[in-house]
Amino acid sequence: MMTIWEAMEARHSVRAYTLQPIEGETLSALEQEIEACNRESGLSMRLVLNDPKTIAGLWAYGAFENAVNYIALIGPDTDDLYRLCGYWGERLVLFAETLGLSTCWIAGSYKKRARSMAGEGQSLAAIISIGYAKKSGKPHKSKTFAQVTDVAGDVPDWFRTGVEAALLAPTAINQQQFRLSLRDGQAFLKALIGPYARIDLGIVQYHFELGSAHPVTIE
Ligand SMILES: Cc1cc2nc3c(=O)[nH]c(=O)nc-3n(C[C@H](O)[C@H](O)[C@H](O)COP(=O)(O)O)c2cc1C
Repeated sequence: MMTIWEAMEARHSVRAYTLQPIEGETLSALEQEIEACNRESGLSMRLVLNDPKTIAGLWAYGAFENAVNYIALIGPDTDDLYRLCGYWGERLVLFAETLGLSTCWIAGSYKKRARSMAGEGQSLAAIISIGYAKKSGKPHKSKTFAQVTDVAGDVPDWFRTGVEAALLAPTAINQQQFRLSLRDGQAFLKALIGPYARIDLGIVQYHFELGSAHPVTIE
C-alpha cells in the first residue's frame, strides 16, 4: 500500500470518473475512516453514492464526468467549520488515494440544494467528489518556497519538508494563498485573502503537519 507521503505526491484533482462503483472492502475501509474522523473531529462527514444530480451538469465549470459519488463535509456551524472541514476532508482525500480512488474538492460547482443535508445547527462547507479515475490528473503549477514562506536565517529540514508537502496540497483555483513562517523553532500558518481560503488553510495545515511531523500554529 502506498504511504501517505506517496499519496500526497500522487494526488491530483480528477473530474472524470469511470462507472466502476465503490464497493466491497474499499467501501468499508472508506466508511470506517469517515467514521473515525467524525469521532475525532466532531464533524458529521457523510459519503453519498450514486447521486448523479449534485455535481454533473452543464452548469458546472470544468469537465465533470460520472461524478456521482461524493463526501459531504458537514459539521457544527462555528467560525472554525471551514478550516476543520479542510483538515479532516484532506485526511480522507489522501486515505482515498491509498485505496486507489481519486477525488476533487468542490466548493463552487455543486448544486446548493445539497446543503439541506446538514441538520439543525450544522452546515455543509464543501463536497469532495470521489471515484475511479477515467482520466488521471496532472501536477498543478506551484508557487515556490520563497513565495509562501516568511523565514530568515537557517531553516531546519523538517520545515522545508513541511513546505514541500504544503505546496502539493490542493487549494481553491490553485491559489495557494497561505503563508508559513518560523519563529523560535515553531511553525506558523496564516490564510491570505482568497475564495475558500479557510478551507485551504485546513488542507494546507494537514499537509504541512504530515510532511514535517511538527504541529503548526494557526495565526
Ligand atoms: C477548497 C477548494 C474548492 C475547490 N472547488 C472547486 C470547484 O468548485 N470546482 C472545481 O472544478 N474544482 C475545485 N477545486 C479544485 C482545485 O481547482 C484544484 O485543487 C487546484 O486547481 C489544484 O489542482 P490539484 O488538486 O490537481 O493539485 C477546489 C479545490 C479546493 C481546495
